[in-house]
Amino acid sequence: MTSAEGLSGPDASPGQAIRRAAMEARGRAYAPYSNFTVGAAVLASDGTLHTGANIENASYGLTICAERVAMAAAIMSGRSTFLAIAVASPGAVAPCGACRQFLVEFSPQAEVILVDALDPARFRTVRLVDLLPEYFSGTSLPHRPFE
Ligand code: THU
Repeated sequence: MTSAEGLSGPDASPGQAIRRAAMEARGRAYAPYSNFTVGAAVLASDGTLHTGANIENASYGLTICAERVAMAAAIMSGRSTFLAIAVASPGAVAPCGACRQFLVEFSPQAEVILVDALDPARFRTVRLVDLLPEYFSGTSLPHRPFE
């Protein structure tokens, strides 16, 4: 975990720190089967950054995407709401459906910054809820026993 401020220099453009963190995290991917390495960085509501990378497995279905690894790291450090997530991948792909559902649980209005790892100056931003309209959430459940 790092702070967003700590990663950006005095002349850094807004959002540079989170994009750079996603790029750096990508270097820790374990992706021997696809060779498609992805890094992600979650900017929590308190300004801290939490990173992840994809972790593959010989039993392919057990693969974990970078986005979920980063979000799990944020949760485990005590943060459960976030402002943005940057995802660095070749071609700036959008998160898979499973990751959209996993992320929307916490902050539907968060921004998703898609960075092209082959040319990190190229990125685009989309709101999470716009990637998963009419999403399923806890409020859809009739019984929530512990509330
Ligand atoms: N992957 C991610 O980590 N995030 C995405 O947004 C797309 C896909 C990973 C899963 C797998 O390890 C590899 O990329 C190829 O699908």
